[in-house]
Amino acid sequence: PNRIALLTSGGDAPGMNAAIRATTLYALHHGIEVIGFKHGYNGLIHNEWMALDEPVVREIIGSGGTILKSARCEEFKSPAGMQQAADNLKALDIDALVVIGGDGSFIGLTKFKQFYPGQTIGIPGTIDNDIDGTDHTIGFATAVDTAVNAIDKIRDTADAFERIFLVEVMGRKSGFLALNVGIACAAEHIITFENFSNPGIELQHIASKIHRIKKSRGQCSYLIVSAENLYPGGANQLASDLADYASIECIPCVLGYIQRGGDPVAKDRILATHMGAFAVKQLLAGHTDVMIGIDGQHCLQVPLASSTKHYKEVNASLLAIQEDLQDLL
Ligand code: F6P
Repeated sequence: PNRIALLTSGGDAPGMNAAIRATTLYALHHGIEVIGFKHGYNGLIHNEWMALDEPVVREIIGSGGTILKSARCEEFKSPAGMQQAADNLKALDIDALVVIGGDGSFIGLTKFKQFYPGQTIGIPGTIDNDIDGTDHTIGFATAVDTAVNAIDKIRDTADAFERIFLVEVMGRKSGFLALNVGIACAAEHIITFENFSNPGIELQHIASKIHRIKKSRGQCSYLIVSAENLYPGGANQLASDLADYASIECIPCVLGYIQRGGDPVAKDRILATHMGAFAVKQLLAGHTDVMIGIDGQHCLQVPLASSTKHYKEVNASLLAIQEDLQDLL
């Protein structure tokens, strides 16, 4: 390719800037020109772009958010939107499009193949880690750390007042954040998609554990970490149901967008750099319609469509270990 375009799409994730930097620098190193479309697929449709060169990306490896801005884009779901986007890429002589984003962005990119004859590559950037075909997504490690730091502070006040807190973390329809954050915070109870059956059973389960702990230890702090989009009505409803069901007073706390922000931790910077450079290598080798993943220490490519086809389950042995550890409490 002579000229490629980048964009960031969907929920922003710490490390997207590092991926923009690596992709840009590696492409420039191989004599490829780079432009960045702004506001996700919206910029592609409305022809909003900027040139990406060394001075633009020089100092962005450690900053959160994305210099290209991000957005979700309804217009890109329509054939007319996709056609417009393809026409704009053609007019700008863009040989390849690299999309840094998550599930929804890759579903869009897969369909876009019908309109755009150039190469397409996805780089997984989402705090949710819910993309199949890669061990990790860019932003997940930072989001885990951010949530752990916040919850450690909640634990202090929970301990001081011997209170029960219910912290809801993001993750869309996936329990990666909840499980990993819960383990790192030594949560007494973790609710993920993989261990949740229904609200009634969950209430019973939580109530019996809390009663058991109170009996053996007396009043003490107790931390429940729950995935979002799981319990109907979310953390507030679960807290109110616990009060009704077992007179348990529990303080709901929805961590929210704090998990998307902040400077990327080193692990995400390194992952983004590896994936960005690897993406350019795949373009140079003529590959298209693939997503970059990481398997242990190695980057690989998988068919783009496969990354969104299957539900990526959390690590079952980690979940089992956590449940065994909780049983001792
Ligand atoms: O995919 C990232 C994410 O932060 C999810 O964890 C969350 O469910 C969703 O995006 C929130 O989306 P929005 O920014 O559209 O509110």
